[in-house]
Order: sequence, then C-alpha cells, then structure tokens
Amino acid sequence: MHSFESLGLRHDGHTLWVLDQTQLPDTEIWLDGSEPEAMIALIRRLAVRGAPLIGVAAAASLATFAHRGASAAEYAAACAALRAARPTAVNLMWAMDRMMGAADPVAEAQAIFEEDVRLCEGMAQHGAALIQDGEGILTHCNTGGLATAGIGTALGVIRRAHEQGKRIHVYADETRPLLQGGRLTAWELRKLGIPSTLITDSMAALLLRDGKVQRVLVGSDRVAANGDFANKVGTYGVAVQAKHHGVPFHPVAPFSTVDLACPTGAAIPIELRDPAEVRGYGRWRWAPEDMPTWNPSFDVTPADLVTSLVLDRGVFSAEALRAGVLAQVCGS
Ligand code: MRU
Repeated sequence: MHSFESLGLRHDGHTLWVLDQTQLPDTEIWLDGSEPEAMIALIRRLAVRGAPLIGVAAAASLATFAHRGASAAEYAAACAALRAARPTAVNLMWAMDRMMGAADPVAEAQAIFEEDVRLCEGMAQHGAALIQDGEGILTHCNTGGLATAGIGTALGVIRRAHEQGKRIHVYADETRPLLQGGRLTAWELRKLGIPSTLITDSMAALLLRDGKVQRVLVGSDRVAANGDFANKVGTYGVAVQAKHHGVPFHPVAPFSTVDLACPTGAAIPIELRDPAEVRGYGRWRWAPEDMPTWNPSFDVTPADLVTSLVLDRGVFSAEALRAGVLAQVCGS
C-alpha cells in the first residue's frame, strides 16, 4: 500500500495509524486502525472524528483490510459495519458507497484521501476571499486538519486568510459536551500561530453584541438539498445569535457533505450519545450520577439563517440555496 499522512491520520505502507483525538491537547498517541473492527471503535469513541476524516479513515481501514487478504464477504460486512459507526456525518456513507463499488480498494482509498486534500484547498480558496482584513471570526467545534485529510473546512478557510496576511482574530467556542473547540481547535490555532481566544459556548452572544465578531464560519456534517445543515450541537444557537446581530454566517463544507437524498434538514438523522457525556468529562463528574440528560450530538440550522454556503465548488447565497443550486452543483 502507498503511505500517506495528515494531521490525524497516517499510513506507513503497512499499518494505518490514527492520532487519538480524545487525548489532545496534552498527549499525542497514535493507535492502530488497520482492522475495520478497531476503526469502528475508534470512530465511535471519537478518537478519530470530523465528518470528512471519518470517511477517509474508514476507507483507508477497509483498503488495508482488503490488502491483507479479506474475502469479498468479509469486505462487504466490514464496509456495512463501518457505514453504521456514526449516523449523522454523511461523508462516511459517501466514502463507503465508493469503496463498495471500487475495483481496487487500495487505489480508491488513496483517491478519497487525495481528493479530500484538494476539496479543502477549494473551500479555502473560495472562503478566504470573503474574509476582510481586521475581522473577528467566531467558530464552533473543530473543523481543521484534525477533522479532514487536508487543511480543514471552516478552519482551513481561516488558516488561508491568515496565510494571506489578513489580520484576523479567531474566537473558538469550547463546544460542550466533548470540548472539541477547547481541546482540538485551540491546539490547532496555537500550532498555526493564528491570533485567537477561547470562549465557553455561553459567551458567544455577548461577543456578538459587543461587535467583536464580523463573521461566523462553521463546518457541517450533512447539508440537505435545500441548504439546511447539521453540525455540532450549538451551531444552531450561534446561527440565531448571528442573525440577531446582523453578522454574516457561513457553513463551510466539501461536496461530499451534501446529501441530495435529504430534501430538508428534517430528514437528517441526529446522533444521540451517551448521557454520561453531559454529566461529566473524563474523571470529572459535576452532576448527580442518576441525573437524566439529553445528549444530541448535532443540531440542524435552517438555510434561512445562512448568509452563504462555502463549498469547494464556490460560494452559494441563501437565495441560490432556496432556488435549488445544490442539485445543480452537486448532482451527478
Ligand atoms: O462529533 P464530531 O467531533 O465528529 O463533530 C464534528 C463536527 O461537528 C464538525 O464541526 C464537523 O465535522 C464539521 S466539518 C469538519
């Protein structure tokens, strides 16, 4: 097999390694995800996460499995099991559909990896053009190199604007309950040297009111045909706040996140996770052990709160989304 490497995933030609994102920012541990069963467990516990990366990692695991001699029946069963590992991010289903139809799984996984890198470049190019010198930018969850094979979706756009010399300041929501913003986005922003400040999710409205934010950029796990989109829970609240304060709000996604089979956001399946994630984190528990919780991992933002959607294929306004542009630019 060929070797490849991104911030959170690497193949050394024999073994597929994933950076355990649950251990960041303090510890960098690489785990073997070559076997689909191991990869499913890694995806379920968010050791590997982020919509595009889940698809790329699952494809790479399947290719390694095939390369090691899996039978056609074993391959198909592993593909179906990987497909079901997480329900909301459609990039996983997109990648598994491609792997099921592939004549050469190793070449296909390599192509999926390389394509994701290019898609990130496309989003960065189109999205960075929106950003003006001096802007404060609010983002949510983690959408960077850890969430993709390339430079990221929303964070890739931010990174490109910074590289272009625009003096931006990023405000990163910590992103309850699993703190992908506080642990992962903050880690990436520090590595990249981008001026930034970490806030708790509940501080975003105040920041918007005080005029510190001129633009909101977020990722997406699934975009419906009408432009409604699912992203990490809390995104919908940020979109409502941005609308109230007249601040432009942009989801950023590759075409592989667009699901034309979902006519509206109401058809997007939302992952419900372990109630314990709301009661505590790691060794820490702050709520009574038997306290009932509700833990949807994603929410759906309606397209009418979107200023424009940044895709690898261009920037599409709310009007264009309403007119059905996604069927034209993402249909086969
Ligand atoms: O549960 P996660 O950490 O996989 O959720 C990830 C997100 O919601 C990201 O914002 C998303 O995948 C956006 S695009 C990289």
